[in-house]
Amino acid sequence: MIAFLKVLETIVENKIGHLNPAILAHVITNRCNLRCKYCVFWRRKFDEEPSTNKVFSVIDQAEELGISFYSVTGGEPLLRDDIPEILKHAHDKGMVTTLVTNGILLDKQLESIAPHLNALSISLDSHLAEHSTHRCDAETYWKIRKNIEMAAECKKRHKNHKVNINTVISQINLHDLDALVKLVDELDIGITFEPVVTMVPESPTLAYDEDFKHVIDTLIEMKDSDYPIWNSKRYLELIRDSKTFDCCSFLLVRLDPDGNVIVPCYHPEVTTRVGTIHERTLKDIIESDERKRALMKSKECHRCYLTNYAEASLIYNNIFKTGLEQFRLWVEA
Ligand SMILES: C[S@@+](CC[C@H](N)C(=O)[O-])C[C@H]1O[C@@H](n2cnc3c(N)ncnc32)[C@H](O)[C@@H]1O
Ligand code: SF4
Repeated sequence: MIAFLKVLETIVENKIGHLNPAILAHVITNRCNLRCKYCVFWRRKFDEEPSTNKVFSVIDQAEELGISFYSVTGGEPLLRDDIPEILKHAHDKGMVTTLVTNGILLDKQLESIAPHLNALSISLDSHLAEHSTHRCDAETYWKIRKNIEMAAECKKRHKNHKVNINTVISQINLHDLDALVKLVDELDIGITFEPVVTMVPESPTLAYDEDFKHVIDTLIEMKDSDYPIWNSKRYLELIRDSKTFDCCSFLLVRLDPDGNVIVPCYHPEVTTRVGTIHERTLKDIIESDERKRALMKSKECHRCYLTNYAEASLIYNNIFKTGLEQFRLWVEA
């Protein structure tokens, strides 16, 4: 609850002209045990990663700046053995902690991360192994499915611990989405959707055609019938109608494993480095002219519907509708 009041405070500060972030989105490693066809991270170089102490220092600086969400991603974050300590450090400071994983290593790491985690997001694009070959082979797919069931069970033992699957929509799985919603409903967890952003030639694609609109309408009906779809209704309408939104990327600080803060996101066509934590404090980077200039340029980007960016922007731009809808979801869960 305190974290959400802090977010409200950040939103008000931004409305009166500051560019203060609410979320530290930390790409803690580029290493990965998968090679998903739409992904850019495993294609990057792997040599630089922050030490545990450096991560602690960044978390401390973020907390002092009033950032209330610490969101760990990658690459595959569970490849780092220090993830439980890192999450504990942020959680003990009162930050809301989230982690997104491909789920392969959950059987090894789940029990040690769960006590320090507010929300665990596991990637799964289909209820069918044969529609998941752009992510992994069938054996790995079924291991991930088993680990998702384990996470659903674990959630029951941890108060305020939420679990969802994150599904990237493409032509491959377009007709699997309602089955996935029913699957997560049975497991008593949630689901979020985001359309694929084609960043590399091998990536699956998505046509925003009548077929797509029909599928999204079905998801909206399912959400109205209380299926656990955690995207806001406004987000689902936005993607259905292929509308644009003002990207409020200033709400997120994105930190790469090599220590660079990037603006606005990891899309290769727009990503800009605005400073490194090895040379400057997080505060200096956040307040720098480089960041302000890059943010101004990105406001009208219109290249993606990545949920982190689009949902945060929708909340910021429609605080009394989307903001309260999403707030209810977090407080009730
Ligand atoms: C980059 S991954 C990192 C965390 C972890 N390795 C995983 O797969 O969940 C975070 C999320 O981004 C999604 N993702 C990766 N590339 C994407 C793309 N081109 N378009 C949309 N989502 C993408 C993944 O499916 C995953 O849900
Ligand atoms: S598991 Fe995640 S980081 Fe790894 S290749 Fe797939 S989407 Fe990228």
